[in-house]
Amino acid sequence: MAGRIPRAFIDELIARTDIVEVIGSRIELKKAGREWKANCPFHGEKTPSFTVSQTKQFYHCFGCGVHGTALSFLMEHDRLGFPEAVEELASRAGLEVPREGGGADPRDRMQDDLFALTQAIDQHYRDQLKDSERAKDYLKGRGLVGETAARYHLGYAPPGWDGLLKTFGATEAGRQALFTAGFIIERNPDQQKSTGPGYYDRFRDRVMFPIRDSRGRVVGFGGRVIDTGEPKYLNSPETPLFHKGRELYGLYEARQQLRNIERLLVVEGYMDVVRLAQAGIHYAVATLGTATTPEHLNRMLRVTSNVVFCFDGDRAGRQAAWRALETCLPEAKQGRQLKFMFLPDGHDPDTLVAAEGSEAFEARLENALPLSEYLVTHLAAENDLTSVDGRARLGEMAKPLIARIPEGIYRELLIERLAREVRMPAPRLAQLLALGDGGAPARSGAPPLRPLMRSASGGRGTLISQAIARVLQNPSVAGVIEEPEQLRASGDRGLEVLAELIETAQADPHLSPAQFVERWRERPEHARLEELAAWPLPELEESAIKRELAGAVARLVSGAGPERRLDELIARAETTGLDEDEKREMRDLQSLRRPPRAPG
Ligand code: UTP
Ligand code: MN
Repeated sequence: MAGRIPRAFIDELIARTDIVEVIGSRIELKKAGREWKANCPFHGEKTPSFTVSQTKQFYHCFGCGVHGTALSFLMEHDRLGFPEAVEELASRAGLEVPREGGGADPRDRMQDDLFALTQAIDQHYRDQLKDSERAKDYLKGRGLVGETAARYHLGYAPPGWDGLLKTFGATEAGRQALFTAGFIIERNPDQQKSTGPGYYDRFRDRVMFPIRDSRGRVVGFGGRVIDTGEPKYLNSPETPLFHKGRELYGLYEARQQLRNIERLLVVEGYMDVVRLAQAGIHYAVATLGTATTPEHLNRMLRVTSNVVFCFDGDRAGRQAAWRALETCLPEAKQGRQLKFMFLPDGHDPDTLVAAEGSEAFEARLENALPLSEYLVTHLAAENDLTSVDGRARLGEMAKPLIARIPEGIYRELLIERLAREVRMPAPRLAQLLALGDGGAPARSGAPPLRPLMRSASGGRGTLISQAIARVLQNPSVAGVIEEPEQLRASGDRGLEVLAELIETAQADPHLSPAQFVERWRERPEHARLEELAAWPLPELEESAIKRELAGAVARLVSGAGPERRLDELIARAETTGLDEDEKREMRDLQSLRRPPRAPG
């Protein structure tokens, strides 16, 4: 295991992150007053009750009760583990994640060594390109300029069987590393007798495209033959660093170039990505000679909610597009734009952008087919909708597809659209598709719906909860408490937590609620604090907040007895309920706390 991530780094990371950007790149946010709103991505809804607060660096859904920091969002929405969520934010912020006592793990050290090797080889191939007129001419012939080649670290592997072996394989350890990273191939034993050395270089006389991971480290290469030869492209094999089904060529470069990636375009080839970037379209990525995998898709959806797939207009292209659509179904939902675009016959993005320029190419992008449209028109084209049979068959074909779309408004709209096509009332079609009564499988991995907190809907909550919420949300007022230590006298756990929070806030009055809560992530009170940080409190002047907090703390310290009893009663009133005696006791205690209200 890698070492722990230091707390100070999480603090800095949260400070350098804007939750509005992180969430806004995944779902569509609309400004509403001081906050941002959206349809909640965690439960189906038609009116937005999901809010994101820039000041608190927190999100909260009034509908299903989910809430948390940017890290929590990545964990729940992108289904990442905590370290991956940290990595994700760090790469956005351009930070390296430090580890306490890192590098102790031998597996980590081996990985570091392999990365050092791939980086050195990347440089080596780039140097070789500078020395090769033949390779440079080839790239020029394909319309690439030096700046583009430099941005994508294009290189050249010269002809010859032992270029890398000679440079990096002088020792047995060096050869082992080259082999593990996929750069050399073992000769078969018969050949070994006659030729001596046991290995030969994988990439020979090829233009080299390094594939970089989200942190810019080279994980593998694609190599294209110059002129003709088989195979046209040769890729690194699966290695400890390189997993074909995960990596997207060009994603790192896109993120380097664009501060905010509004959309991603998925194309087929290395050359397409590079050529589009040269034309100013920096948001293209390519899968590496494979179909788009769910993992690819998840990676893209972490960066943007707007993905366009680009395919050749021929038969193979259409087949590939339909496969991509099937991969997309489980991720289709309101607020995401997944689109499909078909190119004119005989063109790929490389040749098309060269032929018609980037403006015309981007205009085509605007006209890409939304997933729903593509699905419905494809099914409609396959069936004769003038006949009842044809319409029934369309329904049958749609059934397994629609079942893979998560329940929610997106699916409902799609069913409505399909119902129009088969000329049937939508509820009836839904019934036929057997999706009517929650028949579809529940979306796995979605967070459980938490009951709406009573206090969030207007109740006042306990005094201690209010005090904690205040300190979390307005840490700068904590200075008003002179002796937080006093809160610890009773030994009450809740008061101890409050004391600690006040002390933290005093030491660091500029902490955001999100930073606060992240510091507690691994402690038992984390969930409760997260709730309280999202809790809607009345907006008051700073002086009023100070008075309120000071008053609350004074009551909690001095009247620990009756105050705690009242708190306990309020807490139970909001959960299990009170009997008549207890209700009376609560009213009495409340009247002591506040001046009595006018009757009525
Ligand atoms: P294409 O054959 O469409 O080539 O392969 P291309 O991208 O247009 O290449 P150029 O323009 O002739 O240079 C598309 C992608 O499929 C993978 C590569 O990732 C390539 O970019 N591929 C193709 C291979 O992995 N191996 C091959 O032999 C061919
Ligand atoms: Mn091409």
